[in-house]
Amino acid sequence: MQKTILITGGAGFIGSHVVREFVNKYPNYLIVNVDWLTYAGNMENLQDIENKPNYRFEKVDITYQKEVEALFEKYQVDGVIHLAAESHVDRSIANPMAFIMTNVVGTVNLLNACRHAWKDALEGKRFYHISTDEVYGSVDHGEFFVETTAYDPRSPYSASKASSDHFVRAYHNTYGIPVVISNCSNNYGPNQFPEKLIPLSINNIRNNKAIPIYGKGENIRDWLFVIDHARAIDLIYHKGTSGDTYNIGGNNEWTNIDLIHLLCEVMDEKLGRKKGSSAKLITFVKDRAGHDHRYAIDSGKLQRELGWSPSVTFEQGLEKTVSWYLNNQEWIDNITSGSYVKYYEDQYKDR
Ligand code: NAD
Ligand code: DAU
Repeated sequence: MQKTILITGGAGFIGSHVVREFVNKYPNYLIVNVDWLTYAGNMENLQDIENKPNYRFEKVDITYQKEVEALFEKYQVDGVIHLAAESHVDRSIANPMAFIMTNVVGTVNLLNACRHAWKDALEGKRFYHISTDEVYGSVDHGEFFVETTAYDPRSPYSASKASSDHFVRAYHNTYGIPVVISNCSNNYGPNQFPEKLIPLSINNIRNNKAIPIYGKGENIRDWLFVIDHARAIDLIYHKGTSGDTYNIGGNNEWTNIDLIHLLCEVMDEKLGRKKGSSAKLITFVKDRAGHDHRYAIDSGKLQRELGWSPSVTFEQGLEKTVSWYLNNQEWIDNITSGSYVKYYEDQYKDR
């Protein structure tokens, strides 16, 4: 094999699409998926590639230094694409410590392992940290996050991601580790855990359950189809400048309420329901604490320097997403049976 790349969080939503992209596109790379399989990790996401000769799976909790060190003893690691994280803002409000452990301590454990393994040969090595636009905080109308926007994280989740970004840059500056960071907007698409707005709403509509909209539904997010994020990650891993940051976004802003109305229309059509019937499920509930009003990414640098642009419109991406969920009802039923029931009750009972 030409290279060995560890992809952390490869059993999660975005990670599984990145693993698939790399395993299929680079048969000469050994791709090692490093995942602790928390509630968000799901091996079903990777059934189509799990028997490929250039794929391995390692069940490792990145918060354990010894486990991470053992990985680097087992493999001659050339690169790390780091996606493993606690990723849901509402869970970070309920339990911040898990976010500090995985997102901060876990990232530093990986950086330390790279520092030691690569101490005599940094040539050709790369640590790629996958981060979020939420580190920049909330932005006023008409303004956009660029790579130099000052950090202003406002939830425990975004504070933990901002902290890990700072550690990645500090290891580049102090120890010379070749790093690259990207900060992406909201992803949607197949295999997303149904705690996030779009898959949760699809699942609730399918089951004729209320669609909970926080506050007045006026918050704005910039949505990107997950496959386009995976394509950007491939480009940045191979062509991004060491030490640089790249913003990734869909240039596709929606208020939550407008997005849900569009989703309801798609669902009515796909389920053969009377027009307007899904929208009747929309229910305004208590707002998220500290709810950021608007995220908006300027991905001009990535477009100019590396030639990336999204490949699908939002309407196309949403149609593909809804079709995937309706064609993979077993996937979502498996996830929403066990501990999800308790999560949902706890999360939505006082709203
Ligand atoms: P996800 O929650 O779907 O998956 C996270 C994965 O990390 C899971 O497979 C989980 O098992 C694994 N994991 C969690 N803790 C671990 C630990 N201690 N050790 C090893 N593995 C562990 O997350 P996602 O939505 O796919 O996000 C992936 C990355 O992309 C995260 O770093 C997130 O911050 C970032 N990001 C996400 C979005 C988005 O919209 N989802 C947008 C921008 C950036
Ligand atoms: O911007 C990138 C970030 O996008 C990622 O870093 C995070 O990992 C990812 O979870 C996502 O964060 P958000 O908080 O924006 O995503 P979520 O799907 O949880 O919420 C999207 C919007 O919808 C947000 O304004 C809150 C609202 N919402 C969410 C849920 C779950 C509701 O109105 N009702 C809900 O039930």
